[in-house]
Amino acid sequence: MSDRNPVRLAVVGAGPIGRRHLQAIAAEPSCRAVAVVDPAPAGAEAASEWNIPHHLDLEAMLDAVAPDGVINATPNSLHVPLSLACVKRGIPVLVEKPIADRLEPALELAAASEAAGVPVLVGHHRRHNPIVRKAREIVRSGALGRLTAVSATWLLHKPVGYFEVAWRREPGGGPILINLIHDIDNLRFIAGDIAAVQAMTSNARRGFAVEDTAALLLRFHDGALGTVMLSDTVAAPWSWELTSGERTSYSYPNTGQDCYLFAGTEGALALPSLRLWRYDGAQNWQSPLPQEKLAVEEADPIRVQIDHFADVIRGRAEPLITARDAARTLEATLAVSKAAAASGEVVLSA
Ligand SMILES: NC(=O)c1ccc[n+]([C@@H]2O[C@H](COP(=O)([O-])OP(=O)(O)OC[C@H]3O[C@@H](n4cnc5c(N)ncnc54)[C@H](O)[C@@H]3O)[C@@H](O)[C@H]2O)c1
Repeated sequence: MSDRNPVRLAVVGAGPIGRRHLQAIAAEPSCRAVAVVDPAPAGAEAASEWNIPHHLDLEAMLDAVAPDGVINATPNSLHVPLSLACVKRGIPVLVEKPIADRLEPALELAAASEAAGVPVLVGHHRRHNPIVRKAREIVRSGALGRLTAVSATWLLHKPVGYFEVAWRREPGGGPILINLIHDIDNLRFIAGDIAAVQAMTSNARRGFAVEDTAALLLRFHDGALGTVMLSDTVAAPWSWELTSGERTSYSYPNTGQDCYLFAGTEGALALPSLRLWRYDGAQNWQSPLPQEKLAVEEADPIRVQIDHFADVIRGRAEPLITARDAARTLEATLAVSKAAAASGEVVLSA
């Protein structure tokens, strides 16, 4: 592969997020799309839209096209088997989140990637958002002092039609594994790893087998505590989707609210507004607490992620989130339902 030529990417799975990746590839000079794989009509449609070859099957495409990298945007249960097939052939993969629907296959993919030295980047695209990068920089710089309390909200109303698809009403198809996993990953990336989780879940409003609401307590490795409130059945404006202005495969209004709060012994930070509070003088609740608004240059995290994947393929960068790291995010997310079922704390592996 010449360093001057764009990396050749194949997109596997032409659903909404696979098509979003195709748009991002078209916008980034570092890469170009060379094939679409999808047995459904969506595959042929996407291939025709971008004027690239269409294949019904991953292995046949790998034989025919030999891409430099593969984007695996298939349903969750295919993330590990299809990514393993690429890793076996030495082809780097960008696999959508969640890395798997269970921890064991996620760890199997991590081990295979490490043993073969073939990078796997997991599609937690929010890590590529400049707001999230800035927040991590601030928290890690010590500007907030010792991080002590974290609060996150994911409160919104999904449309009734969303639940016409049967698996979305069943355990595993709900907001914990589909949506909360993004927030858990953001919190891990910004505030550090999670040591333990306690939770309660409820299906009392929608009445489906799957949860519609959850309340979490988190303990971070460095001793900070956190809370997360999650519900897909409330008329509320506080979620990353409704506040960040980020566009993935969907379009949301921006409510102008914050959804994450980080409080340390010396200061506090709200996201996505990036408002930072620090005392000028005495740290005292009767003193004024000045606020400044930090600025970052906006960027589409899906495009930044694709560009990063091109760097990973060229060996210029390590994946911002490896399969092993994503397995930790998955473990913490799966711990929510486990903790709720146990009505107690679930201590994660060290
Ligand atoms: N990063 C994000 O914000 C984000 C957003 C949406 C979805 N996702 C993730 O991306 C994945 C796909 O989501 P979606 O909403 O596009 O799903 P989808 O079900 O709408 O689309 C998946 C596509 O994969 C195709 N497919 C199934 N089996 C295949 C196979 N063996 N080979 C090739 N293609 C195959 C299906 O025909 C379908 O067109 C999910 O894991 C989801 O969690 C991530």
